[in-house]
Amino acid sequence: MTNIESLPLSAIDVSDASLYQNDAWRPYFARLRKESPVHLTENETFGRFWSVTRFNDIVSVDTNHADFSSEPAITIGDYGDDVPVQQFIAMDPPKHDIQRKVVQPVVAPKNLAQMEPLIRQRVVDILDALPVGEVFNWVDAVSINLTTQMLATIFDFPFEDRHKLPYWSDMATALPEATGGSADIDERTGALMDCLQTFTTLWHERAEGRSDTMDFISMLANHPDTADMVNQPMEYLGNLILLIVGGNDTTRNSITGGVLALNENPEQYNKLKDNPALVESMVPEIIRWQTPLMHMRRRATRDISLGDQVIREGDKVVMWYLSGNHDESVIPNADQFIIDRQNPRNHLSFGFGIHRCMGNRLGEMQLRVLWEELLSRFSEIEVVGAPERIQSNFVRGYSALPVVLHR
Ligand code: HEM
Repeated sequence: MTNIESLPLSAIDVSDASLYQNDAWRPYFARLRKESPVHLTENETFGRFWSVTRFNDIVSVDTNHADFSSEPAITIGDYGDDVPVQQFIAMDPPKHDIQRKVVQPVVAPKNLAQMEPLIRQRVVDILDALPVGEVFNWVDAVSINLTTQMLATIFDFPFEDRHKLPYWSDMATALPEATGGSADIDERTGALMDCLQTFTTLWHERAEGRSDTMDFISMLANHPDTADMVNQPMEYLGNLILLIVGGNDTTRNSITGGVLALNENPEQYNKLKDNPALVESMVPEIIRWQTPLMHMRRRATRDISLGDQVIREGDKVVMWYLSGNHDESVIPNADQFIIDRQNPRNHLSFGFGIHRCMGNRLGEMQLRVLWEELLSRFSEIEVVGAPERIQSNFVRGYSALPVVLHR
């Protein structure tokens, strides 16, 4: 094992995706927070970039969009030239604000309240079909299944083809030069073009007010500010990817992460069983503990000081939410999973500022409904083997978690 304390600081490179695949990142970030909180790295894959690792420094970058631009990309690496997409998460005002405003009503509280019974019904159908007393992969059977159904709902996507959504999402985020992932480039390009074509057909079906449903495509197609987006295919595709990944990987990996966290902390699981009302404060704690998106990247628009460093105009600045969520100076006992924290929403997993997660309430609602229904059905979701984690420095996720359910 590497002795991290004896490594020269210059050897610490937290863009290495294997740190997350092997779940080995904790001591690296602990050392950076302590000794080099605004840390410069230069490597072959991503070039020169700063890692910001303390909670308050991250908030100060995230809330300062004038000095820290989101263009042209929010992962450490730029998006591939094969599919040069644009999306509002990687835009600055005014264009960002205009596009966000068009789709936001889909995940506004009023629409979410209307969606909750449908989401609950879908949760119930999935849980009632699970095998009891047999080993199965929680990721496929529950996490992916449930978030895929939810995505199909918010896109009003043909339900029988919904399995394509997580596939496109996986292809979009697995680009080696953007996130250290492992996608085959040709397969990725083909998948994304198929995604664009499918959604272009849906756009034309829904344009000109022919559909009055509250889904992302109808909203974009029928709003005067975005009605032309279908003619900018890379912008349409970019925003589709944003909404698919936003609503997919994040919630999916929080659903798996929660089961793992409770198994690693049986005293917390017992507390929950004794008092199911704790689901309310456990959900934000799961989202902090998991930190499904580990970073967002910005680009300095001028020379600017941060901590004791001077960032040069044009430099990449990576906000490591995963590290900030473990900053003891802001979150007491940050390395521990505690389901009844005093202030559980005080975490960085949804970001801050003008790009703060648009779907945060939807993600939380899905997790709350799932845990309410799980607790009323099963005495235990037992993890019976090690989780398999994905290779990425962006999405903190799982490909497998073997479990057995007990009544
Ligand atoms: C546990 C669940 C989720 C987590 C942890 C999460 C995390 C994040 C983060 C970190 C950001 C960037 C924040 C920043 O730059 O300051 C973001 C933005 C965004 N998220 Fe989420 N997300 C989740 C669920 C969802 C869901 C369910 C949707 C629904 C479609 C969604 C849609 C978006 C969109 C559209 C943006 C871009 C906002 C903008 O640029 O203005 N997210 N999310």
